[in-house]
Amino acid sequence: MKDIHADRILVLDFGSQYTQLIARRLREIGVYSEIYPYDIEPARIEAFAARGIILSGGPESTIADDAPQIADAVFSAGVPVLGICYGMQAMARRFGGSVINTGHSEFGHAEITAADHCQLLEPLIKASPAAATVWMSHGDRVESLPAGFRCTAESDNAPIAAMSDENRRLYGVQFHPEVTHTPAGEQMLETFVTGICGLATDWTADNIVEDAIARIRQQVAGDTVLLALSGGVDSSVVALLLHKAVGQQLRCVFVDNGLLRHEEGDQVMKTFADNLGVNVKRVDAEQRFLAKLEGVEDPEDKRKAIGKEFIAIFEEEAAQIKDARWLAQGTIYPDVIESAGAASGKAHVIKSHHNVGGLPENMALQLVEPLRELFKDEVRRIGVQLGLAESMVQRHPFPGPGLGVRILGEVTQSYADILRRADAIFIAELYAHELYQKVSQAFVVFLPVKSVGVTGDGRRYGYVVSLRAVETIDFMTARASHLPDDFLDLVASRILNEVPEIARVVYDISSKPPGTIEWE
Ligand code: XMP
Repeated sequence: MKDIHADRILVLDFGSQYTQLIARRLREIGVYSEIYPYDIEPARIEAFAARGIILSGGPESTIADDAPQIADAVFSAGVPVLGICYGMQAMARRFGGSVINTGHSEFGHAEITAADHCQLLEPLIKASPAAATVWMSHGDRVESLPAGFRCTAESDNAPIAAMSDENRRLYGVQFHPEVTHTPAGEQMLETFVTGICGLATDWTADNIVEDAIARIRQQVAGDTVLLALSGGVDSSVVALLLHKAVGQQLRCVFVDNGLLRHEEGDQVMKTFADNLGVNVKRVDAEQRFLAKLEGVEDPEDKRKAIGKEFIAIFEEEAAQIKDARWLAQGTIYPDVIESAGAASGKAHVIKSHHNVGGLPENMALQLVEPLRELFKDEVRRIGVQLGLAESMVQRHPFPGPGLGVRILGEVTQSYADILRRADAIFIAELYAHELYQKVSQAFVVFLPVKSVGVTGDGRRYGYVVSLRAVETIDFMTARASHLPDDFLDLVASRILNEVPEIARVVYDISSKPPGTIEWE
């Protein structure tokens, strides 16, 4: 089988908010890529054996005394190098060119024109010969070229908007080809990896699945593998990959904690056990979780109680599977990237990730993590490839503690039931109005306070729920979605009519920060 990782690009991260986007674009093109922080040990750069290197943008100025530098190992590798924004400026200075601060930053659309022929820029120039639209985001610019380089494009604010030394295969662009605001940017990156670096585009959903299956088989051989299936995208795709790779050696445990959404437990069982033939045991543990949550009001205490009970149940189930040697987890690439942005005080933080809110560490099981090198969009793509419904892979994120953090204060079964009914209405209407995919996450929150309302001739004294819908790229910041008034009217009216325990529906308009997405 062909090694689909061999034709690989290394992306060195100088701290740009777009670094992950560069790697994702390359993979969309069909070329495997990884991200390392710019100051990683040079031996790691050599060991990676990239067939091409891309230097990202970054928030620093190359003129500053302690400006991040490009490691020698980048150029001694003898492979093509593309510097983007900061990467171009650092390359210019490194080879004897100069960079100045223009005194004003340029952020947004700009137009570039060709100054000299360059293979890299052909797709941009071909797409719009007069002036190609690109996305700029910089304060400094290259003022004079290093020896051996030619200026290949110019713009109003950047007389040297691109440069190249085609003999040494070194290229720089001031603009950002990785963002969609640079219309021909992806074709430019494709020219770099296929035309200039000469790489094959074998990183496709088919090949990723085939490769992952082969590697799982080699790793676990004839052993039994355990998986805590939550029904979320990552654990679902892990289940399908393992099922395909080792069939009945996979033993999934699905813990229904009673804090799932409307009919969610049944849906998970229908999808995996009935339709896809995956070996999955459902553990109905609603009463156990509710017992642990009785009288617990503090959000963190609730999270801890739910997490602890989950581990206890999973351990009990695992103990019954005597010959298990492996524990599968849905760790994905963004969880393991050592990025320059995450490197506080130069110590590289590697985030560890545990699905479903933390799994036992003392279980003496070895980890199998088949999604470790995939971005979320790749996980979704191979999910579809493996037979998961589109609606399943495109679902909004759902927190491990489930409705436990959407019922303020103490959790009871009746609160959870009321919330489930209201939430199901909101979500169904979002789908019906084709709004579900336009928001990043949407749900209903239950407030255990009572408010007065009126129905017919009678007074209604019932609970309050809040609708929450946000738009976000990374879930670190978010704004409340501007859902149409008519739509909100309809949802409120359906909830008030169909869930008589509820007397009032409000809409949460808080941004994050200072609010969070969940209410607890
Ligand atoms: P916040 O509320 O912090 O949420 O703005 C950001 C994202 O994280 C999810 N979230 C959680 N996920 N366990 C999880 O697995 C948790 O305890 C948890 N708390 C929040 C939240 O749904 C949102 O997508």
